[in-house]
Amino acid sequence: MLRKKRDLIGIDIGASSIKLIQLKQVRGQFELVNMGIVPLAPEVIVDNSIMDPGAIVEALGGLVESLKVKTKNVATSVSGHSVIIRKIQLPIMTEEEAENSIQFEAEQFIPFDISEVNLDFQILGPDAKDPSQMAVLLVAAKKDFVNDHTAVFLECGFQPVVMDIDCFALENAFNINYDTAEDEIVALIDMGASSLNVNILKEGVSVFTRDIQMGGNLLNEELQKRLGVSDEDAESLKLGGTVADVDTASVDQVVSDSCNTIVQEVQRSLDFFAATSAEEKVSRLFLSGGASKSDILFKTLQEKFEFEVELLNPFNQLIVSEKSFDLDYLEAMAPLFSVAVGLGMRRIGDK
Ligand SMILES: Nc1ncnc2c1ncn2[C@@H]1O[C@H](COP(=O)(O)OP(=O)(O)OP(=O)(O)O)[C@@H](O)[C@H]1O
Ligand SMILES: [Mg+2]
Repeated sequence: MLRKKRDLIGIDIGASSIKLIQLKQVRGQFELVNMGIVPLAPEVIVDNSIMDPGAIVEALGGLVESLKVKTKNVATSVSGHSVIIRKIQLPIMTEEEAENSIQFEAEQFIPFDISEVNLDFQILGPDAKDPSQMAVLLVAAKKDFVNDHTAVFLECGFQPVVMDIDCFALENAFNINYDTAEDEIVALIDMGASSLNVNILKEGVSVFTRDIQMGGNLLNEELQKRLGVSDEDAESLKLGGTVADVDTASVDQVVSDSCNTIVQEVQRSLDFFAATSAEEKVSRLFLSGGASKSDILFKTLQEKFEFEVELLNPFNQLIVSEKSFDLDYLEAMAPLFSVAVGLGMRRIGDK
C-alpha cells in the first residue's frame, strides 16, 4: 500500500521524442510495466527550450492514453545551458546547516542571479585531502526553464514530483544494470538528437558531468546543407536509405565528417576530465541515446579511444515479461530509453 503511493512514471522529453517508462519494484528488482515513445517535430524543442508547449501536451496526452497510464505522479528531467552542476568544497557542516547556507555559498559558483534559480545539493562526503572540508554537489536550474517543463505536465494532468537532471538519470540507469570494479572509472554518454550528456563515474558515483549542445541532428543539418536535401530525406539518408539523385559516396563523406565532429567534442570532454583529475583514467565508455545506434558513429568512437566502447542497455537487469513486451522491439529501442529508465526508478520522496 505504502509502496503504491510512492509510485510514479518516468517521462523523458527529448528534442526528437517523448519517452515514457513505468517500473514496478519486485523484491529488490525492477520490473518493466509500461513503455512508450512518441515523436516530436524538430521545432517543438530547440536548444533544450520548449518552443511549442501545446505540441508536447498533445503528444504526451496521446501517449498516455494509448498506454492506459493511470499513475499521475511523474519523474522528469532537464539539461542544457540553464542547468549548472558543480562540485564545490564547503567547511564540514550538517545537512541542515548546509540547507541554510547553500543559497549564500552557491552565489559565487552560479553564473545566474541566485534569485532566478532553483538550488539543490548533495553532500558527497569529507574531502580526501582536507578533513575540515567536505565535497558538495551543487545543482542549479533556472526557474523559468524548470517552470516551462513542469507546466506541460500540469497541463496534461500530471504531478511532476521529481525533477531530475538528464545525466543523473543516466547514472541511475547505468548503476541498476551494471557493476563496476573498485576504483573503476567509466564514462556514460547519452547521444540524443540535439545534445550529448556526459557523466563520468568512479565506482558508480559521478565525478564529472557535462552537457554538449550537439547530437545526431548534426548529421541531418550537414546532409541538408551540403547535399541540398530536405529534412525528411536527410533523416532517411542518415538511417541508411537512398534518395534519388544523391550518390552514396557524398552521403558517406558527410556522415563521416559529422561523426568526426561529434567524436572530437566527446574527446574534448574526456580530455578536460583527464586534465582536472591527474591520475584517474576512464577505462570504459558506455553509449546510449538514439545516435549511438549509428554504426559509423559507434565505430568512429571505438577507433578514437583505446578503452572499451559499449552500448548501455537500460533493460539489462530489469524483469521483462515476454508476454507483455516484444523483446526484439525492446532491444532496438533500448538506447533511446536510458534516461527514461533512470527516471522510472525514482520514487516519490526521493531527493
Ligand atoms: N539507427 C540510427 N542511426 C543513426 N541515428 C539514429 C538511429 N536511430 C535514431 N537515431 C537518431 O537518434 C536521435 C534521437 O535519439 P534520442 O531519442 O536519444 O534523442 P532525444 O532524447 O529526442 O534528444 P535529446 O536527448 O538531444 O533531447 C535522432 O537524431 C535520430 O535521428
Ligand atoms: Mg534524450
